[in-house]
Amino acid sequence: MNILLLGGGGREHALAWKLAQSPRLDTLYAAPGNPGIAEHAQLVDLDATDHRAVVDFCLRYSIGLVVIGPEAPLVDGLADNLRVKGFPVFGPGKRAAQLEGSKGFTKDLCKRANIPTAAYERVTSKDGAIAALDDFALPVVIKADGLAAGKGVIIAQTREEALEALDTMFSGAFGAAGEEVVLEEFMEGEEASFFALTDGSAILPFGSAQDHKRVGDGDTGPNTGGMGAYSPARVLTPALEAEVIEKIITPTVATLAAEGMPYSGVLYAGLMLTAEGPKLIEYNARFGDPECQVLMMRFDGDLVDLLLAVAEGRLAQEGPVELADRAALTIVMAVRGYPGTPEKGGTIGNIAAAEADGAKIFHAGTAEKDGELIANGGRVLNVTATGDCVGTAQAIAYAAVDAVNFPTGFCRRDIGWREVAREQA
Ligand code: AMP
Ligand code: GLY
Repeated sequence: MNILLLGGGGREHALAWKLAQSPRLDTLYAAPGNPGIAEHAQLVDLDATDHRAVVDFCLRYSIGLVVIGPEAPLVDGLADNLRVKGFPVFGPGKRAAQLEGSKGFTKDLCKRANIPTAAYERVTSKDGAIAALDDFALPVVIKADGLAAGKGVIIAQTREEALEALDTMFSGAFGAAGEEVVLEEFMEGEEASFFALTDGSAILPFGSAQDHKRVGDGDTGPNTGGMGAYSPARVLTPALEAEVIEKIITPTVATLAAEGMPYSGVLYAGLMLTAEGPKLIEYNARFGDPECQVLMMRFDGDLVDLLLAVAEGRLAQEGPVELADRAALTIVMAVRGYPGTPEKGGTIGNIAAAEADGAKIFHAGTAEKDGELIANGGRVLNVTATGDCVGTAQAIAYAAVDAVNFPTGFCRRDIGWREVAREQA
């Protein structure tokens, strides 16, 4: 079977690496891809915003499955336009992808389906928002409704900060994404991510992970797309996971299906483990990046089989997803300037030698220039390893980080700290 993979980050490199291990794969095509993905796929010049071009490509190259990595094409309805032409797609259609595309949509769904989450109000004007502020204690969480690349969330400690945040949002800092705003009660607890595959009716858990969103050691500095992750997140115990499936995932899938917008793909639930039990922070309509990288390191099955079963609505016939007991950890090597303006063009060397002791390095933001590998985006490499515990995986991954020759790069030195502390306790 020929497969088209859309996206060009570390998440897609990990997916390409796994898809390429399937005996069912003939040719993997990827757009835009990156030099790491090119080791497993034929890169093609295809613009995911041009839905007609994607459909034409699928017809011409007899594509049997399209895997959509990032959120933007999902929210934009690419999956629908492929499905009407009969192509199996891994990823939700436009209406179901609102789970990620509109925070207000998700909050309203939680209310309809009685899903535990923070109290909230949707507001569409600054004056309305200021009036609504009185309903919330401090700190208060202020979110742009639409896609904002992980940057549209402000936790305001004081009323002044809240007013400033509302001013920023309603003055267009987030473009159309900030025309509507959600005010939320601040939840306290530890965060964990949970992944579930669904074809709109059957649900298969696909593991847990913990991300590190802040750029600096000790969870300091500005938010990023994620500076590292590990899996599993043992803080999400089997009992808590069962509760998440029962109270959050199942009613979400059932409600969307009942309302005529069945969700097909992977549901990524961002959770807060509060004193009152797990609550939903937000949904994403895709695999996490870099969470996908650690999940793929623990998945020993046939990814083509599994994603195709989701895409073709046959998930009920699949057995549970077997994730290996081992832990996996990934460290993001970013380039100077990230998460602001990344300094592009710095050279990267010694990747193969750095992998010699068992680490796996996924390419996130790399390019090739004059035969050399260079940095071409904020998050550049995902240095990944497995081990019998997170501590072991961490040691292998940092040894590999130290072996990579990337003078303009940097990384956090404490990825996995929560779990390593628990393991040592
Ligand atoms: P989101 O983009 O919705 O995942 O929000 C980004 C980050 O903001 C989350 O990972 C949390 O750390 C934090 N956050 C969002 N909503 C809340 C909330 N209601 N209470 C506490 N923290 C939150
Ligand atoms: N690492 C966070 C995300 O993928 O949204």
